[in-house]
Amino acid sequence: MDQTVPVAAVSETPADFIPPFPFRHERTPPIIELMGLARRNFLSIWTRGNFSSRMMTQQVLRRMMVICNAPDVVQEAFQTHHVELQRKSPQMRHALAPLIGDGLFISDSETWARRRKVVAPIIHGSRVPGFAPIMIDTIEDQRNAWMARGDGAETDALADMAHLTAEIICRTIFGRQLGKNYAHEVVEGFSEYQRHIDQVDLAAMLGLPEWMPRFRKPAVRRATARILGVLDEIIDSYQTLKDNGEASVIGGLLEARDEDGKPLSREAIRNEAAVIFMAGHETTANTLAWTWYLLSQSPRVRERLHAELDSVLEGATPTFRDVARLPYTRAVIEESLRLYPPVPILAREAMAEVHVGGRKLPKGTILMVVPWLLHRNPLLWDDADAFNPDRFMPGAQGRPSKYGYVPFSIGPRICAGLQFGMTEAILSLAILAQSFDLRLRPGTDVQPVCRLTLRPGDALPMTLHRRR
Ligand code: HEM
Repeated sequence: MDQTVPVAAVSETPADFIPPFPFRHERTPPIIELMGLARRNFLSIWTRGNFSSRMMTQQVLRRMMVICNAPDVVQEAFQTHHVELQRKSPQMRHALAPLIGDGLFISDSETWARRRKVVAPIIHGSRVPGFAPIMIDTIEDQRNAWMARGDGAETDALADMAHLTAEIICRTIFGRQLGKNYAHEVVEGFSEYQRHIDQVDLAAMLGLPEWMPRFRKPAVRRATARILGVLDEIIDSYQTLKDNGEASVIGGLLEARDEDGKPLSREAIRNEAAVIFMAGHETTANTLAWTWYLLSQSPRVRERLHAELDSVLEGATPTFRDVARLPYTRAVIEESLRLYPPVPILAREAMAEVHVGGRKLPKGTILMVVPWLLHRNPLLWDDADAFNPDRFMPGAQGRPSKYGYVPFSIGPRICAGLQFGMTEAILSLAILAQSFDLRLRPGTDVQPVCRLTLRPGDALPMTLHRRR
């Protein structure tokens, strides 16, 4: 059942490169089979027809599930009806609550509105120029580490990108010094946590009430205690070790005041630091890993990327100001985010009865926008499965509305780190691709797998080749 596009289907013409995707069913599998598939890989449950459906509904155990797959319905759900549909799915809330408590990512209503006002400005686009020098230094460390490996060295590009983005987020959240000291510990704790949380929340599907205690694996409790302990230690040492004057998220959180002039509590600071780490690390890592893979299979795109980097930067390391001068580099990242959105499912629970797409959805309905489907909807995109960054170049024809391309979500809950993440991805690709070309290890079968995020399996074996 879990078949994929055969390698022979991968076109030799670089412009037409069709990267792999899981087998698409002709008919929806029976519900039990569907749940089993969803548990292993959420991307493998779809029929061919689902990609062009406007709206889909399905009763799953005691829950009504709805998928919105057209820009106007996405707008209605995430923008017009934000109030009724702002709550994250029970699965997401229960999976993350032990770790991030009432953190922005899973809170709603009053708590979310208050936190969003305090946290979003700290990582807002206007702050990114202040974070960029930390990003650039960290990316240069990665480039130097690759240099030291020698030409043709084998590497796991997924692990390298995870390491890079974890270092960047740790150094920006905690300041350079603390970030360096604690990055490893924080990453280990989060990976352990992710390994042990459940993908499918059966209790929620059965409609069990919120107050009913959920079973938590001891491993989840251990990982939580480890991460929270480290975060406490970091906050304690921040006051004495803080890097003078340099932008850091934790500094912003400590100094933040709400509308009543009150500072955030220790617990809130810890929760929001965990949110930013969690939301901002693996997403960017996966984006970069997919980008290396796509580039390795498409010589035409790779050559154009190199041409832009070489002509615009003339060998110099890019700065924040150069990001706006690299439209093709940006387009490569945007196309990578279209084909492999790191967050492939955006799920909400209706807090009240609501009408979307002309249908009445009862309170408790799970409504989903699935970027994996929307971004490959043949009614919205020409040659929807093909890797073609040109569709994102300024002035390109045929780009759907902003509600048809949602790698960062849309509406009031749009990713608070959008500019941060895009800048980080563009700078990382620019600096590393200036010096290196990455080739896929021959015989490697790359398949998209969705756990909490969409990644190219557990590893991406590639070889490093110096460009100059
Ligand atoms: C390529 C990189 C990134 C992608 C694709 C991405 C994607 C997303 C998506 C899809 C959501 C909404 C999730 C949902 O509705 O269920 C989200 C939320 C969020 N992201 Fe990002 N993100 C990225 C990078 C970052 C970075 C670097 C940061 C922090 C520096 C960040 C911070 C956040 C926060 C705080 C939220 C919660 C917003 C809210 O609920 O109000 N993200 N992100």
